[in-house]
Amino acid sequence: MKTEHMHGEAISLKRRDFLIASAGLAATFALGGLPRNVKAAALTLPALPFAENALDPVISANTLGFHYGKHHMGYLNNLNKLIAGTEFAEMPLEKIVVATTGKPDKVAIFNNAAQTWNHTFYWNSLKPKGGGEPPAALKQMIEASFGSVEACKKELAAITVSQFGSGWGWLVLEGGKLKVVKTGNADTPMTAGQKPLLTIDVWEHAYYLDYQNRRADYVNALLDKLINWDFALKNLG
Ligand SMILES: [Fe+2]
Repeated sequence: MKTEHMHGEAISLKRRDFLIASAGLAATFALGGLPRNVKAAALTLPALPFAENALDPVISANTLGFHYGKHHMGYLNNLNKLIAGTEFAEMPLEKIVVATTGKPDKVAIFNNAAQTWNHTFYWNSLKPKGGGEPPAALKQMIEASFGSVEACKKELAAITVSQFGSGWGWLVLEGGKLKVVKTGNADTPMTAGQKPLLTIDVWEHAYYLDYQNRRADYVNALLDKLINWDFALKNLG
C-alpha cells in the first residue's frame, strides 16, 4: 500500500520528541542500561487548518469545538493508550491503520487509528469559502469521470447521504479514474487500494448540533460552501 497521499505539515501527525527528564540520563547510559526516565513517544493531533468559527454557519464553532476537541482528540488519546508499549508504539499513524486493518484482535487499535487519520483528512477536505469551481487540472479529471462537476457533487452527496449509520463519503482515485465511495464506521478506502482525495464525515457528531437529522442538508451545504478542491488536487499528486 502506497502512503504518499498524505501531504504537507498540516496532515502529518508528528511524534512528540522524547520527553527526557534531564537528571540521570547520562548516568543511566553510563551504567549501560536503558534510560528509565524516557517517556514513550506519543502521536499528537495537528492543529485545525482554520479557526473553530471559520466554517460558520455551515458548520458552527460549537460543532467544530466538540468534533475536534472531544471526538477527534478522544480517538487519539485512546490510540495512544492502546499502542503504548506495543509494536505499534513507534509507527507513523498511517502504517498503524494499514497494519491493523482486517485483524480481529486489533480492532480497537484499527478503529482509533483510522478515526484519527480520517478526521485529520476531513479537516483538510474543508476550507472557509470553499466549494465553487475546482482547479482546472482536477476539473478535467472530474469531467472525464463524472461528466461534470455538478454530476460529481450529486453522486458524492448521494452516496454519502446513503451511508447507513455512522461513516464517511469519499472522492477517491482508483485505476486512473475518480470514483465516489462510502465506508462504515472507521473504515477508510486507503486499505482497499483507493487513494483518498476528499472525505465527508457523516457520523452524527459531525452535523447533529447544527442540522439534527437533516444529513442531506449538511452534506449539500458542505459541498457547496466548504469543500476544498485544492486539497483533492494536491492528493492526486
Ligand atoms: Fe467525526
